[in-house]
Amino acid sequence: MQTKKAFFKEAIKNFKTAGTITPSSRFLIKKMLHSIDFNTAKVIVEYGPGNGIITHQILNKMQSDCVLICFEINTHFYKHLKEINDGRLIVLKSSAENILIELKKLNINFADYFISSLPLTMLPKLVSQNILVKSKHALRTNGQFIQYQYSLRFYRKFKQIFNKNNVSLNFELANIPPAFIYKCIKK
Ligand SMILES: C[S@@+](CC[C@H](N)C(=O)[O-])C[C@H]1O[C@@H](n2cnc3c(N)ncnc32)[C@H](O)[C@@H]1O
Repeated sequence: MQTKKAFFKEAIKNFKTAGTITPSSRFLIKKMLHSIDFNTAKVIVEYGPGNGIITHQILNKMQSDCVLICFEINTHFYKHLKEINDGRLIVLKSSAENILIELKKLNINFADYFISSLPLTMLPKLVSQNILVKSKHALRTNGQFIQYQYSLRFYRKFKQIFNKNNVSLNFELANIPPAFIYKCIKK
């Protein structure tokens, strides 16, 4: 796994797409993964894995018949993730916007969970909107879209797309910076 220093170096060079300079804390990761049923999950998608700090935790918990598909646009992080030697992992150098096309190429109809670290507030409005709408489309019924953010700016957008009764909010102070965790369920 890459060091915090290596992550910092790459993130600062690409601040607009990385959206932070430190990887997620173990406390934040625990809350992000808390509601995943790893006994039944068959397809998990991760957006913006970066140095793989969440990826490794997901792989540790996943069953052998589950697949994890990662979307990462940063070349340095992509190459680093490709070094993970695990047959259940598919790493794509592709934007989250391509979710529907990429799943189709893999012959996968639906995902059970999305784990997203995308810096939604830093992406063009239309791009973030497209990613959320397409991801909902690719989620199975009762599947979850889980996202952390450093502000509440996307709360309304999540409620618009997933319906307000299906969006819940959590918070983790022990992260730099402290983060909100959105959990959206597709009904
Ligand atoms: C905040 S970092 C998260 C890193 C790591 N998952 C963590 O939690 O510490 C955001 C990551 O999203 C990636 N990213 C930004 N826009 C993306 C997009 N449209 N599709 C896929 N990945 C993207 C960045 O390259 C960066 O690695």
